[in-house]
Amino acid sequence: LTDLSVQIGRLALSNPIMVASGTFGYAREMARLVDCSRLGGILPKTITAQPRVGNAPWRTVETSAGLLNSIGLDNDGIDAFMEHHLPYLASIGTSIVVSIAGRTEEEFVQLAQRVGQTGQIAAVELNVSCPNVSGGVDFGTDPDACHRLVAATRAGCDVPILAKLTPNVTRIADVACAAAEGGADGVCLINTVLGMAVDWRRRRPMLGNVMGGLSGPAIKPVALRCVQQVRAVTNVPIIGIGGIATIDDVMEFLVTGATAVQIGTANYYDPQVSTRLIDELPAALQELGAASVAEIVGTLDSTR
Ligand code: DOR
Repeated sequence: LTDLSVQIGRLALSNPIMVASGTFGYAREMARLVDCSRLGGILPKTITAQPRVGNAPWRTVETSAGLLNSIGLDNDGIDAFMEHHLPYLASIGTSIVVSIAGRTEEEFVQLAQRVGQTGQIAAVELNVSCPNVSGGVDFGTDPDACHRLVAATRAGCDVPILAKLTPNVTRIADVACAAAEGGADGVCLINTVLGMAVDWRRRRPMLGNVMGGLSGPAIKPVALRCVQQVRAVTNVPIIGIGGIATIDDVMEFLVTGATAVQIGTANYYDPQVSTRLIDELPAALQELGAASVAEIVGTLDSTR
């Protein structure tokens, strides 16, 4: 029997396959298509203090290199989340990790406190890496600001804290170390890569917000590189995200150093991809002679 359970700081998961924030709505819309209770964890769309309508259209475009989005943190806001979405999410019976975004440190702390106090969530993910709103990466590009934010959130909230980081920085490892020193239980690598698509005949950008975040298979090598760079300098647990759609992708992230993964863009093409990856994981672990996920994490050998 294979042990799929993993531990990310204080966060314990039944298996390492989670669904990424923003790609699974508030889970209700997916329930018809997926047995959500089997997922290692569910991350609903990032919540902010006030409801937001998000950016002007167009907000998504499929390019030959991947999906580009400029949603702009469209969400129902914390009040509606607490009243309508959290009770449903909590009833699913798996770990709920609530993604939050604030404009200030105080806003992050208050959001974390409100969701943390319910006793219904497994962890909070600090989204300090949204490329599509003004100030969206302020806490994800400055190591000191990230350190202070994580420390303040941790001090005000009892549940495990994850920090989701942006690849759109020169040295992601510096930000990850700062998050770890601030007390993060784990870092989530990576949010989308800033990009752009152009309609030359109309001489206009394809997205209303001009630029957007690139996701899907094209960013997997960027994400693996980030996991490698962070793993090289800190033992903070890593959750890998970026272009994961197959069991090979999952295994690449685990051996490189991720303890768990989040499936994002692949959900749009096949909502059942994550539960299938859970089914496929034991056989892949057996190929490496492993009886648990934990024993292969970070076993990449660059001298081989
Ligand atoms: O690519 C992204 N789009 N990353 C985020 O963190 C948020 C999202 C949006 O709402 O724009």
